[in-house]
Amino acid sequence: MGSRAKKINILIVLLTAVMTAMALSGCTFSGNPDSGQQDGISSIIGVSQANMREEWRVALIDELRQETDATDDIRIITADATGDVDKQIQDIENLIGYGIDLLIISPCDEKMLAAKIKEVYDSGIPVIVMDRAVEGFDYTLYIGPDNEVIGQQAGSYIAELLGEDGGSVVELSGSQSSKQGSERLLGFRKVLSEYDNISINRLHLGAESKDAAYDMIKDARTVVERADVVFAYSDIMALGACDAVRDMGLDDKVMVVDCDGFKGADEGIDLVRQGRLKATVSCPIGGKEAIDYALSILGNESGVPKQVILRSNLITADNVQESLEKMNTAVVDDGSTIRVGYSQVGSESNWRLANTKSIQEAAKRFNIDLHMEIADQSQERQFEAIRTFIEEKVDVIVVSPVVETGWDEVLREAKRAGIPVIMSDRNVAVENREENLTTTYLGADFIEEGRRAMRWVRDNVQKDGRQSIMEIMGNEGASPTEERSKGFREILNENPSYYIAYSDHGDFTYEGGREVIRRYLENNDWDIDIIFSHNDDMALGAIEELKAHGIKPDEDVRIISVDATKDAFEAMVRRELSCAVECNPIIGDQLMKAVRDLKSGKQMPFRIITDEKIYDQDLADDYINKRMY
Ligand code: AHR
Repeated sequence: MGSRAKKINILIVLLTAVMTAMALSGCTFSGNPDSGQQDGISSIIGVSQANMREEWRVALIDELRQETDATDDIRIITADATGDVDKQIQDIENLIGYGIDLLIISPCDEKMLAAKIKEVYDSGIPVIVMDRAVEGFDYTLYIGPDNEVIGQQAGSYIAELLGEDGGSVVELSGSQSSKQGSERLLGFRKVLSEYDNISINRLHLGAESKDAAYDMIKDARTVVERADVVFAYSDIMALGACDAVRDMGLDDKVMVVDCDGFKGADEGIDLVRQGRLKATVSCPIGGKEAIDYALSILGNESGVPKQVILRSNLITADNVQESLEKMNTAVVDDGSTIRVGYSQVGSESNWRLANTKSIQEAAKRFNIDLHMEIADQSQERQFEAIRTFIEEKVDVIVVSPVVETGWDEVLREAKRAGIPVIMSDRNVAVENREENLTTTYLGADFIEEGRRAMRWVRDNVQKDGRQSIMEIMGNEGASPTEERSKGFREILNENPSYYIAYSDHGDFTYEGGREVIRRYLENNDWDIDIIFSHNDDMALGAIEELKAHGIKPDEDVRIISVDATKDAFEAMVRRELSCAVECNPIIGDQLMKAVRDLKSGKQMPFRIITDEKIYDQDLADDYINKRMY
C-alpha cells in the first residue's frame, strides 16, 4: 500500500476513534468527514484553545473552521482548556493521541506551557503558537498581534481627535486577567500620558461583557456626561458603551472608540459603518494566516518565518468601506513576473554578502525580476536608488536602510506613485505610523538578539566581583545597533554584577572592530572581562588586534558576537570567540514569498521575523560543517 493510501486508512480509523473519544474529552471535530475521508484528507490539525469565554478566541476557532472547511485535505480537532493549564496539557496529549500532524495552540499561560510546547516541537510535530508568545524559539511559528501597538494606535487617534484643546476620556477596562487587554491599556496610557490637556477617568468592569459595560456607563452618568470620548479595549464592551451612550441621549456629544474591529454584525467595523463607533483599531484574528502557514509547513515549503506580527489598522468612517472591500477581495497570484527594485545597504560584512546572494538567488526561483542597487552605507545613494525605482515604475520597492530615520519624504514619494515598500533586514522609524508608508518588515528581532547575548553572558561568564563589558557597536542610528544595545541592556539591568565600561562604534566592519580595540588601548590598560560585539566581522577584527597586543581571546576576555557566520564558527572552534547569537541572512525565500503575497492582495503583517538560534563553542564543533555562509 502506498504511503498516501496508508495514511488515508489510518485517518479513517482515527477519525472514528476520535469522534468517540472527543465526546469524552471535550474536543470538537471540524470539517466534512463524509467528503474528505475517502479521497482527500492528508492532515489533521489539533487546536488547543486557552478558553472559549473571550470573544476573539471564539472568533479564532470560527475562522480556523471556515478556513479548513474551504480546504479539501485538512481537518481540525479543537479542544477548550477552560483557562486551566493542567487541562490544556492534557488536551495537548489527547490531540497527539489522536494522531495530529500539526498543533495550533493559544496558551492559557505562556510561561507554564512553554515546556509542553517545546516537548511537542522536539517530538517532530510542528507547533504554531498564537496570541501569546512563549520565550525562546522552541516552536515552529508564532502568529499574533502587537497589543501594545494596538493600544497606542487608539491613543494617538483620540489625541488627534481632541486636538489642541484636549478633553476628557473615560477608559473602560475589563477583566484584569486579560493579558491582551492589559497590553492594549499599556500602549493606550503611554500615548495619552504625553498630553497634559487630556484627562482620563478609569472605569473597571469585573466581567468583559456588553451588559456590564452598559450598566457601568449608565451608573457613571456624571462622569460620562462631561466626557468627550469613551474608550473600550474590546468590541463587546464598546457595544455596551454605544448602547448606554445612546440611551442616555449623549450620542451627539460622546464619541466611542475601541479596539478589536471584528467583522460581524454589531461588532467594531459594523458599528463604525453604522456611525455609532467613531473608530476601531482592527487586527486580523490570525486564523486565516494560521491555516495558510500550516499548509506551507505541512507541505515543507520554504519561506516560513519564525514569527508573524499581525497588522492592526485604524478604521474610521473615512476608510470603512475600502477596508471591507479589501477584506473581501480574493487573493490571487497569477504567477506573472514581478519587478522589484532593491536598495541594499552595502557590502560591509560577510553577513551582508550572504544576504545579497540569498536574495538574488531566491528572486530567480520566485519569478521576480530584481534590480538591486548597493548603496555603500550612504543614505543619499539609497534615496537616489528609490527615486530611480519610482521612475522605472517597478511593482515593489524593497529597502534595507543604513539608518532608521529620515525616510519619510522618499517613502511618501513611493506611496504617491502607488508603489508599495517592504523593509528587509532593517526597519525604519517613521514619524506617523498611520501614514502606512511601509507595508511590512521582514528580518530579525534585533532586540531579542541583544537579550540573548546578555542572557548567555549571565549564564556562562561568572566570577567574583563585578565584570566589565566592552560593547563594540554597529554604525550609529542603524536599527541593529540601536535594538541590539537595547535588548542587551534590558537583561544587563537585571544583573548588577555586570556593567558596560566602554562602548564604541565599529560600523559592522572587520577594520572597525580592530580600531575600537586600538583606540581603547591607546588610553587604557586592558581591564575588560567581556566583549559584546554587534557582529562577527567586528569581533574577528577585535580578536586580531587583541592578539597583536598579547591579550588572549577567550582566556583574558570572553567574546560574544552576533551573526554566527562560518568565520565565527571557525573562531569558536579555535577557542577564540566564545559565543555567536545567530542573525539569519538567508531571508531570500521569505522575502520573495512576501513580495508575491503583497502583489496577490494579501493583508501584510506588521512584522515577519526570521528563525534564529544561539551557538557556543560546544555546539560549534558539531555544527561547523553545516554552515554554508
Ligand atoms: O542588519 C544586519 C547587520 O548588518 C548584521 O548583523 C551585520 O553583520 C550587517 O552588516
